[in-house]
Amino acid sequence: MNFKDSLHAATFLALFSCIFALFSSVPISGSKDGLQADRLLHVTGAVGPESLVFDSHDEGPYTGVADGRILKYEGEERGWTEFAVTSSNRSDCVVPFAPELEHICGRPLGLRFDKKNGDLYIVDAYLGLNVVGPAGGLATQLATEAEGQPFRFNNDMDISEDEDVIYFTDSSTVYQRRQIPLLLLSGDKTGRLMKYVKSTKEVKVLLSGLNYPNGVCLSKDGLFLLVGETSTFRILRLWLHGPNAGQVNTFAVLPGYPDNIRRNSDGQFWVALHNAAIKLSDEGEILEIVEGKTMRYVSEADEKDGKLLIGSVLMPYIGIYSL
Ligand SMILES: *[C@@H]1O[C@H](CO)[C@@H](O)[C@H](O)[C@H]1NC(C)=O
Repeated sequence: MNFKDSLHAATFLALFSCIFALFSSVPISGSKDGLQADRLLHVTGAVGPESLVFDSHDEGPYTGVADGRILKYEGEERGWTEFAVTSSNRSDCVVPFAPELEHICGRPLGLRFDKKNGDLYIVDAYLGLNVVGPAGGLATQLATEAEGQPFRFNNDMDISEDEDVIYFTDSSTVYQRRQIPLLLLSGDKTGRLMKYVKSTKEVKVLLSGLNYPNGVCLSKDGLFLLVGETSTFRILRLWLHGPNAGQVNTFAVLPGYPDNIRRNSDGQFWVALHNAAIKLSDEGEILEIVEGKTMRYVSEADEKDGKLLIGSVLMPYIGIYSL
């Protein structure tokens, strides 16, 4: 990294930290100081394991990192191997953290496996909705715009295997990921929630005018979809089926910025906040909050086998916390 690049990265980090510190200083009452992770799984040579996912053979985790790669953890001996990329032009993508190259290298965020065929779906902040087969490699771009409006900052997704559709967000049609401080300060309301229909390859806009839409997660019964609105601290619920289909209401109001949302096997939801993770019931009540010092810039919390795996947009590791 030359001097100019490191200056760039340092400025970005400083801005990012200031803005989050300003906005996330709301005290969280009743929380445990739990995010002293029991174990840190270092992502060797990389930073920012944003989203975590396991394949249908229960291998992984897989995670997208700041240099644009999607890595797979293959156990202590083999460590992390490169699984997939979203950009074919990666000759300059050689440093772990270079926000000014994100639009070239890609920045994979939300990841989900289609358990039926082993395909991995990837939402890349700059390169749209992508898919890659079980062998990995260069992903195929599926969507980069909706209703004539290009995506600017794709963020997260979920797959409905019953309906064969993918729900995904574009956080803003104005600001890119590396402009998050501006996106927050401006109060931008140009975000959208889309649906990608696999059979027809059609992209439909379900909700527009959203205030920094971020995490996406289906309910266990598939009746509703949650969408985090980062700027408003809210989780919205869009009813997909049943008597309320098409209606949107507030599911929960959180004590901080919501990022990714992931469901556990009981149908409860873990929402990542900047410095905490919060568990919500399927009715939106806050059940548990874990916060702490080792995990910062928390982007996702995945419950698996009695553990909580914590991803981060900036840290060089995944935190593993015993529930
Ligand atoms: C590949 O990336 C470089 C910057 O790293 C850029 O200058 C060039 O235009 C890119 N090429 C293509 C075909 O996009």
